[in-house]
Amino acid sequence: MSPPGRDRPRRHLLSMNDLVRPDMERILDLTDSFAEVSERAMPRVPALRGKTVAWLFYEDSTRTRLSFEAAAKQLSADTLNFTVRSSSVNKGESVRDTVQTIDAMGIDAIVVRHSCAGVPHRVGDWIDASVINAGDGRHEHPTQALLDLYTARTHLGGLDGARVAIVGDILHSRVARSDVLAFAAMGAEVTLVAPPPLLPSSLDGWPVAVTHDFDSILGEIDICYLLRMQIERQASALVPSLREFRAEYGLDSSRADRLAEGALIMHPGPMNRGVEIDGDVADRPNAVITEQVANGVAVRMAVLFLLLGSGLDQAEGQREVAA
Ligand code: CP
Repeated sequence: MSPPGRDRPRRHLLSMNDLVRPDMERILDLTDSFAEVSERAMPRVPALRGKTVAWLFYEDSTRTRLSFEAAAKQLSADTLNFTVRSSSVNKGESVRDTVQTIDAMGIDAIVVRHSCAGVPHRVGDWIDASVINAGDGRHEHPTQALLDLYTARTHLGGLDGARVAIVGDILHSRVARSDVLAFAAMGAEVTLVAPPPLLPSSLDGWPVAVTHDFDSILGEIDICYLLRMQIERQASALVPSLREFRAEYGLDSSRADRLAEGALIMHPGPMNRGVEIDGDVADRPNAVITEQVANGVAVRMAVLFLLLGSGLDQAEGQREVAA
């Protein structure tokens, strides 16, 4: 969260790098309360009545956008839906003019997705409302990491010492970057599993181990986290073919059978069934992919509530607001 400085509440959620472990634990603990709200027949609390949340998605989304919308509604916030395809962006309006126009309508938060890394950070400099990064290029996707932590913690009880393999197209993945920071901060041991062309050229400072041999670690991991092969972000072919990628790095039935008892299979979605994960594997009981989606609503409720309440730093003692 930013701006920096612990003397005033942090307003934005831009990167997992801005959060320390106690921040993440506070968000996950508050998520427990909101998960209970989401399960009610009338899933609505008045926690953000009078607040307005807007969306600014320059890239497509199903899960992130809909779950933020559900989260805002369950907190009784008003929402301003902005669709880039039918907006004045198509007449050449800049990002800055667009967000300042939306901000002028009196919003309290804006959820931003853009194909360029750093755009949500710039938006945070231009407007007074809180900014939540819903995915910026290859850079970060912090609320995905938070819902991944929440889902994993729910099943494993805790994440200290958990062995997490993040497999596939690391190079283009904002989820990988946020998840590495998140799982490492929570005490997990993270291993990246990918062919060299699908890894960043430098991993200096990344708190990870690396292997190119997926089969060698299958029996030793608690979480097998598959990433979507991002064909649309690859300027040139980085693997000989999708069939060859699947043969070495796809989670097929044979590999899934060799996972340790109780190991979780996770994926941020959308999945390429038959590439990074086989269809029948994605539907196994230990695949928690739809649970990740469901948890996305409660996690985003917690994030919105904290940012639009008194800031993340004031999270302690606020759980009763969800009651
Ligand atoms: N995981 C994720 O960000 O999915 P969407 O692109 O559907 O939002």
